[in-house]
Amino acid sequence: MSGRTRGWLFGLAAILAIQVLRMPVRNGSAQDGFEAPPEVRSAVLTACFQCHSERARWPWYTQIAPFSWFVHAQVEEARKRLNFSSWKDYLYDPGTAAQKFGAINQMVRSDAMPPWYFRALSARGRLTAAQRAAIETWAIEGRARALKAEPN
Ligand code: HEC
Repeated sequence: MSGRTRGWLFGLAAILAIQVLRMPVRNGSAQDGFEAPPEVRSAVLTACFQCHSERARWPWYTQIAPFSWFVHAQVEEARKRLNFSSWKDYLYDPGTAAQKFGAINQMVRSDAMPPWYFRALSARGRLTAAQRAAIETWAIEGRARALKAEPN
């Protein structure tokens, strides 16, 4: 057996071995308080809910270690910062709403969200220019409304 073949076999065995470390699939309560104009809602549902909600889908390749570790860490981080399943709670507090709307606009306008690897892996991540524009306009208007409502 050549050293190269042995290297490949070793790699394969390692990949198989780490599959015992299954990541539990965790979706919280499937409440969905997210409301927005239809074109915004459908774009966000398609391109953002995968990470920023309790309604993530977990296709088979997200179950394969070590990739599964990466995906789970990303979803956890994403939910901590922005969880569309808690959208109604955000809106109760104008300061929070303004911050969320502002961050969404910034991330979508700068092409930082959805993340590049998600766009590469999934058609769901590839928003059209019209969808991006709809999200941006909605976020700008939402932020302005929230700032006006803020008591100060
Ligand atoms: C594949 C997972 C994934 C998808 C899909 C995704 N995000 Fe994110 N998002 C993350 C992660 C991870 C972070 C935190 C780390 C970072 O900022 O890069 C984040 C951070 C953010 C933040 C920053 C929140 C803050 O206050 O710091 C915003 C806003 C955001 N995403 C909006 C969106 C929007 C809008 C979409 C859909 C158009 C989207 N994301 C799609 C994974 C994702």
